[in-house]
Amino acid sequence: MGAEPVPVRTIQHPLVEDSLTRLRDRDTDTDGFRRHARLLSLVLALEVLRDLPTRAVRVESPLEPVQGGRIDRPVIFVPVLRAGLAMLDAMSGFVPGSKVGFVGLERDEETAIAHSYYEKLPAQLAGAETVILDPMLATGGSALAAIDALTRNHATAIRLACIVAAPEGIEAVQSAYPRTGILACAVDRSLNERKFILPGLGDFGDRYFGTV
Ligand code: PRP
Ligand code: URA
Repeated sequence: MGAEPVPVRTIQHPLVEDSLTRLRDRDTDTDGFRRHARLLSLVLALEVLRDLPTRAVRVESPLEPVQGGRIDRPVIFVPVLRAGLAMLDAMSGFVPGSKVGFVGLERDEETAIAHSYYEKLPAQLAGAETVILDPMLATGGSALAAIDALTRNHATAIRLACIVAAPEGIEAVQSAYPRTGILACAVDRSLNERKFILPGLGDFGDRYFGTV
């Protein structure tokens, strides 16, 4: 019998709902889209690393010694180019010493099948928390290719942070990689015939980079 997949997590919060609604709104301009993509990425950063281990450290406050904690595991962010770059600055800003790898994937406009055009990953993936950043999980083809790349390079703990996920993509990732946890701001209804997420927010990369 196959392993039970790690359940998908979503974030219920009025500010997340507000930002996500602004991203969905076709009248939101590029600046507004960037601002709310960044805000959602900050929330995702906190949530996706919620169980990151810490080690006890003692520091001196201006008043007295105090016991605190420091992150105790390497963290590697892996944005899926191009749209994953939208999440990188907010995410990596939270985690001191985090490293970054890149996976370049682009869906064919006709078939929606992603092809790989770039890969550059840090040497030490084993033992690190690797977090794939991709705002849209549609068919799951891009996420699977990114997880395949990390697995080939000996990553042992892989998570996926997205802004919007479709049931089809979730099912694809969970079937192939049941131990990969998926965190999303929202799980949408389905895909259309062109494999775009419904209701979704359109083409994330085009809206974020202003290439529409
Ligand atoms: C988009 C998105 C994901 C992918 C999701 O990228 O950013 O990477 O599609 O679709 P999938 O789950 O069906 O693979 P796209 O290929 O449009 O490239 P871009 O990031 O350069 O815009
Ligand atoms: N990529 C996007 O940017 N949007 C979708 O709806 C699906 C894939």
